Amino acid sequence: MVSVEWRDGAVRFIDQTKLPHEELFVETTDYRVVGEAIRSLQIRGAPAIGVAAAFAVTVAAHAHGLNSVQDVRDAFYSALHFISRTRPTAVNLFAALSRMQRVVEQHADADPDNLRRSLLNEATAIQREDTEACRRIGEYGAALITSPSTFLTHCNTGALATAGSGTAQSIITTAARQGNVRRVVADETRPLFQGARLTAWELLRAGIDVTVITDSTAAFLMQKGEIDVIVVGADRIASNGDVANKIGTYNLAVLAEKHNVPFYVAAPISTFDPHTQSGRDIPIEERNERDVTLVGGTRIVAEGARVFAPAFDMTPNELIQAIVTEKGVLKPPYTEAIAAMLSTDKNELAPQPQGVPTR
Ligand code: MRU
Repeated sequence: MVSVEWRDGAVRFIDQTKLPHEELFVETTDYRVVGEAIRSLQIRGAPAIGVAAAFAVTVAAHAHGLNSVQDVRDAFYSALHFISRTRPTAVNLFAALSRMQRVVEQHADADPDNLRRSLLNEATAIQREDTEACRRIGEYGAALITSPSTFLTHCNTGALATAGSGTAQSIITTAARQGNVRRVVADETRPLFQGARLTAWELLRAGIDVTVITDSTAAFLMQKGEIDVIVVGADRIASNGDVANKIGTYNLAVLAEKHNVPFYVAAPISTFDPHTQSGRDIPIEERNERDVTLVGGTRIVAEGARVFAPAFDMTPNELIQAIVTEKGVLKPPYTEAIAAMLSTDKNELAPQPQGVPTR
């Protein structure tokens, strides 16, 4: 299953808000539709957001009536500014837009078709590289699992969230093929239930035994010694290894330390942000209170109560035993390990496009 792709001049994606009940694919040539899909979590998961952003600015450059390179540039930048304001935390979005912007800025040719072709090539490269990154993350991460284990995971980090087999979830599916998954425990992941709706759906399709728990059940299971390893994804990793990921990740990391459970983060290089020194610098998205007040369209919160709905939290690096990337497994001290890894990356993150809000 491909979460987002380019098909015959259009962007095609699966609407993740409809899962697991309905497999609805949307096809559009309007970058605003892609942007709104990112904002509303129809497209979600850091790497998938990056791929979608790249295709969104590409489809804008393919609009009818753009006859000169200047026309294409103008359409591209309108889309870039729109897309860059959709969600603030997953740095993959900004990394992808930076790469796309570099293509436009390096394009000296006066031919708009060449520019469009170069943009599509770059967007496709971003997608292809993520597919390969997922595969390698799966292999490097599975090598850490040496016997049949019970995994705990949070949110959704599978094919839906990436251009390939996933990040943390790729470790699980790879370990499963090696006979090292006893079962998977998936946090339901309040408030939007990515674990219950998406991870359970994906793991069942892969034939993997999955048990969904409420987020607050994780502590009890760890206390009983029933969790062998925790694997989660990331939306942005700071230079010192602090990790922003789905709200509730930090809870798990604290519990893991208390109960001596290995806590691993899995992410591609596109999720590392060399411009943030620590997790405190990472902008944390706050969602609309309706994410919390409504469950299945029904209001569950007493009228008049205030709501606080951060989409992500920050896990300090000292609670993380290893960060699994496509280049290998990083171990503390992370500042040195991350700097060494990024120094070999050809797609070093350019400064964020002008006008992009950091919060
Ligand atoms: O709000 P979401 O569903 O986009 O949040 C997703 C996560 O927090 C994932 O863990 C992260 O993006 C990694 S996905 C491979």
